[in-house]
Amino acid sequence: MIRARSILEIPSMHTSRREMLLDSTAVGLSLLLSHRVFAHPRVLAFRDPSEAPIAGGEDDIPVPKPSVARFESLGYGLFLHFGLYSQLGRGEWVKHIDKIPTDEYFRRMKTFEAREFSGRALARVARTAGMRYITLTSRHHDGFSLYDTRGLSVYDVTHTPAGRDLILDFVEGCRAEGIVPFLYHTTLDWTDPRFESDFKGYLQYLRESVEILCTSYGPIGGFWFDGKWSRKDADWEEDALYAVIRRHQPEAIIVNNTGLEHRGRTGHPEIDSVTFERGTPTPMDRRGMKKYLSAEMCETMNFHWGAAFNDFNYLSPAHVIEELCACREVGANYLLNIGPSPQGALPDYESAAVRRAGEWLKMHEEAIYLGRPCRLRGQGRDFALRTPNATYCFILDLTHTAATKVQQGARGPGPRHFSGADRPIKSAVWTDNEERAVRSERRGPGPQHLEIPGGDEHGGSSCKAGRCFMMADPRRIDDVRGFPP
Ligand code: GLC
Repeated sequence: MIRARSILEIPSMHTSRREMLLDSTAVGLSLLLSHRVFAHPRVLAFRDPSEAPIAGGEDDIPVPKPSVARFESLGYGLFLHFGLYSQLGRGEWVKHIDKIPTDEYFRRMKTFEAREFSGRALARVARTAGMRYITLTSRHHDGFSLYDTRGLSVYDVTHTPAGRDLILDFVEGCRAEGIVPFLYHTTLDWTDPRFESDFKGYLQYLRESVEILCTSYGPIGGFWFDGKWSRKDADWEEDALYAVIRRHQPEAIIVNNTGLEHRGRTGHPEIDSVTFERGTPTPMDRRGMKKYLSAEMCETMNFHWGAAFNDFNYLSPAHVIEELCACREVGANYLLNIGPSPQGALPDYESAAVRRAGEWLKMHEEAIYLGRPCRLRGQGRDFALRTPNATYCFILDLTHTAATKVQQGARGPGPRHFSGADRPIKSAVWTDNEERAVRSERRGPGPQHLEIPGGDEHGGSSCKAGRCFMMADPRRIDDVRGFPP
């Protein structure tokens, strides 16, 4: 996409898309076409535990609480920004950016019907995409709530033609599909006057708002707060806010987004996970931490979180898979956002894209959900994850994976080296087609040489389907070296 964009927006983009945009704005379309193609990794599994080459995790790090360990194994979630702004189709910040007066903005309540909003339908898409939780905006910065605030605010869904509590519908729909419901809640408010003039009174309102969410819908997976970054030096009375959650929902995960400028920063002691909004998560150094913190990176399918009709900067399934892998590489969760339509349905392209990525995920479930960072180190962007049963090597940058005769620039990954193994590797299989991919040839002391057996130009006869990521020519995956004897 080539589009004029303000400087301010650029730092918020994912690096790869940022690079793409900078290139495209600087030098035009021709270069954009030659830009890096997103390609998801292919994964090698060492399935036999006796052959798994690496041992152990890091020492001296705290053990995660069971709720945090569960959260980490949820791994991949769907983020949903839905509200009055969805009708305007210019993103969730439209009121603020376009300076829409509050009265005029809330006139949109009269047309807020949410006819196609169905928690069950949303959860079904998430489930088929391989996601295990959904985080939905119960209230965003505009101050409009998707739930019955029991008289706390007139700006809630009960005062609209929708006339039903969408959070109730959402939570029930998630449970029916085996998806864990999480709730996003803003801490800043553009329309409640107390936010400016009576901050303590506002915080009391915020706590009461959250208490309703804690007590009306049964167990909630977690609460995802956002907005603290708007007043960096204020006393947000976090002790009291989190105490409400611990009192009613002791198992809930507590997140408070640190925003674009402070990705990965730790916060209040009650917080369970750090955030990496639209960034690439970095490994957490948990040594010496008082409690184990998980990590989560949130990203959106285009450049807005709420519906944005003229924003066509969509992620491809390959990019989604790459980002998911980048998160799991460092043990972080990936929370991928879609902005539902004005009536609350998931748009076609986004649903299809996440479902397509879900097909890849289906083949790599154990690696993605149970895999944890380990000592085995790959070259470049290659990395490995370990589960109790197996070790998985993620081989990236299989840019073109079809036969050289029909694919311009076709190439395999080239020789790959992994180091840090504590025993020789005997064999491995590709997880996408179960084909035996490497065979170890012990050459005395020194690195283990792993040979890729040959196959035809389409990736070997055991290639299950014609999808391009399964077409790697094994002869081109030359060797995987670097394992100490
Ligand atoms: C930012 C934005 C907000 C969005 C959030 C998601 O904090 O203010 O609109 O909800 O990111 O991470």
